[in-house]
Amino acid sequence: MKRVGLVGWRGMVGSVLLDRMCAENDFAQIDEPVFFTTSQAGQAAPDVGKPVPVLQDANDIATLKTMDVIITCQGGDYTQAIYPQLRQAGWQGYWIDAASSLRMDDEAVIILDPVNHSVIDTAMADGKTTFVGGNCTVSLMLMALGGLFKADAIEWMTSMTYQAASGGGARHMRELITQMGLIRDEVANELADPASAILDIDRKVADIIASGKLPVDNFGVPLAGSLIPWIDTALDNGQSREEWKAMAETNKILGRMANPIAIDGTCVRIGAMRCHSQAFTIKLKQAIPLDEIEQMLAAANDWVRVIPNERDITARELSPVKVTGNLHVPVGRLRKMNLGDTYLNAFSVGDQLLWGAAEPLRRMLRIILE
Ligand code: HSE
Repeated sequence: MKRVGLVGWRGMVGSVLLDRMCAENDFAQIDEPVFFTTSQAGQAAPDVGKPVPVLQDANDIATLKTMDVIITCQGGDYTQAIYPQLRQAGWQGYWIDAASSLRMDDEAVIILDPVNHSVIDTAMADGKTTFVGGNCTVSLMLMALGGLFKADAIEWMTSMTYQAASGGGARHMRELITQMGLIRDEVANELADPASAILDIDRKVADIIASGKLPVDNFGVPLAGSLIPWIDTALDNGQSREEWKAMAETNKILGRMANPIAIDGTCVRIGAMRCHSQAFTIKLKQAIPLDEIEQMLAAANDWVRVIPNERDITARELSPVKVTGNLHVPVGRLRKMNLGDTYLNAFSVGDQLLWGAAEPLRRMLRIILE
């Protein structure tokens, strides 16, 4: 496969994608990488270790049409504007997309190859050419619990999420840090004095958080020192769209929309930077011994890591601190619940920008190129 167009490579997900592609030497597989831009056509393209033309105009359908593959992290508005025009113009190349706009279209396949390689293979054999990365919590959940899905062991499950600021975007991350800094500055003197009263510190912190002085342009309300139990828009049934995605996307990824597994939960934004965590209640179809469950989970893919249900190792390993920038997806807190022997508790953490966004895209490109 010759010409691969990259769009939106300068943004946060795009930058992670480019880093990963360089780290895995993906550009050696691409005859002609072509970088597109919405604003800087004609300027130099990034150095990827081989000659590349200057930046091309990302809105120029004629040039885009000359690509065999287009991989975009430019966002949903770009996809909605450009993708239909390209297809209407007769372009039959592969479209690999990080945005959610096309995910649930019949023509699109949601990609997470460690989990649904066979769905991807079937789609390619059927001539499908539109491949879209899944929602980050869904992809990270499937990477963590893939073994139980593979064994068709799940009757239903809930996922209660603890989602990082990065899921909102780069500006959200900056806003969170700014909020944190302002809160700390407010009580810097008291913190430096071991004799100061904690309830005075607490009151000043509560006051600054509630004062309206923290920047909230992106989150709408303070996140630092708080949380937001709503992510994305509202649906008519009381769910947030983020919560709706869990069941809809999981079953599409697994190719079992006709026989769906029920999944629901509450999605919550917390003050982590780029790792999404999730607490699961899993209703098993039958009682499976815990050691068998651990083996199933550990064997499902090369990235999942089963963490023993012990305090110290859990605190160390099952944590955004450990997982940030890392492709490993730890899953732990595995235990049968008081609810009964078919009820499994689990907790997982994953880097939202890696398996939750960039990694499935570059791996799909490799599948196409190989
Ligand atoms: N919707 C996710 C979030 C990120 O807001 O955390 C993208 O999948």
